[in-house]
Amino acid sequence: MDDVDFDRPIDRRGTASLKWQKYGDRDIIPLWVADMDFAAPTVVLDAMRTRIDHGVLGYTRPPASLIETVVDMLQQQFAWRIEPEWVVWLPGLVTGINVACRTAGNDGDGVVTAVPVYPPFLSAPQLSRRELITVPLRRDDSGWHWDMKRLEASLTPHTRLLLLCSPHNPVGQVFRRAELMDLIDICERHDVIICSDEIHGDLILDPARRHIPTAAISPAAHERCITLMAPSKTFNIPGLGCSFAVIGNDRLRSRFRQAMAGIVPDVNVLGYTAAEAAYRYGWDWHRALVDYLRQNRDLVFRAITHLPPLQTFLPEATYLAWIDARGLGLKNPTAFFESAGVGLSDGKDFGAEGYLRLNFGCRRALLEDALARMQQVLITR
Ligand SMILES: Cc1ncc(COP(=O)(O)O)c(C=O)c1O
Repeated sequence: MDDVDFDRPIDRRGTASLKWQKYGDRDIIPLWVADMDFAAPTVVLDAMRTRIDHGVLGYTRPPASLIETVVDMLQQQFAWRIEPEWVVWLPGLVTGINVACRTAGNDGDGVVTAVPVYPPFLSAPQLSRRELITVPLRRDDSGWHWDMKRLEASLTPHTRLLLLCSPHNPVGQVFRRAELMDLIDICERHDVIICSDEIHGDLILDPARRHIPTAAISPAAHERCITLMAPSKTFNIPGLGCSFAVIGNDRLRSRFRQAMAGIVPDVNVLGYTAAEAAYRYGWDWHRALVDYLRQNRDLVFRAITHLPPLQTFLPEATYLAWIDARGLGLKNPTAFFESAGVGLSDGKDFGAEGYLRLNFGCRRALLEDALARMQQVLITR
């Protein structure tokens, strides 16, 4: 078993970390961008060391053993049987979202998504010369849901793509089979392709929930789905840029590859090495991680519940908490908490002004410190 200690402090300052360099020397605990402060599994680091010790780091093809590993992994984790040739390697999921937009339809066609959502969902359509259409997610006692009526009403004959985040960043919802089936049904009737970003699919915190790959639900879904996945969130290796699309429909896959041609670089050699080691040997580490994250989630939930007027929701998946800060009546709640020493993501970037996103993928003592700072500033304001 891997030597797992998620409480071990690791100083990330001075490592050109996106997350930690944002605030420089200011005393602000960074709980924003979605990477975790934990070291990658030892099995992953060892595999990378072995690869480096070989010494030659030339152009690399996706290793056949990695593709086999991915096929096995999808079968084991999600009972999803895929063929090796369905896999298209990508140097990042965001690349995949943008390529999906360029794959579906033509310039000026529509791309629909539900807000709030991970910001590149909102920028990719325009970057790809498509029109962005948004519908709000609906909240009820059972969580966050697509509003099927509003979705269907928003579609035009030119809407060619639906961008789905499943499980959902930032609200942490694990969509149920019935809801995914309704989405597939609507897309089928309107001939809309589905790009299903499932990067958080391995980070299910609620033991009663299970991630279901959209494409695995039905033959209709299989035909119209571009599934995007990666080991980067699961094993905390996002800086290695190794991810992949699974596209079962041959024509759709070849259009996707065409949209990538000459622009999208290959995955780097260490990205492949890390991905294979993680998917083969990283699952004990992953189990311990999910337990740790679940406790962090519960800590955040309890703390924020006692911090009116903030309101939060128990995420079923991801290491992200979505917080409604509108009750504060502030124009810029992110700046307010930064001035109290806590760096959160601004909901405005996700299409939801007045909300905040808190990344609890960090050691517990740091999280407790951040929550205490939030409590302090709310008491004294
Ligand atoms: C839903 C979602 N998709 C994609 C990404 C980023 O993927 P990549 O770093 O591989 O581009 C993230 C990172 O936070 C994410 O939350």
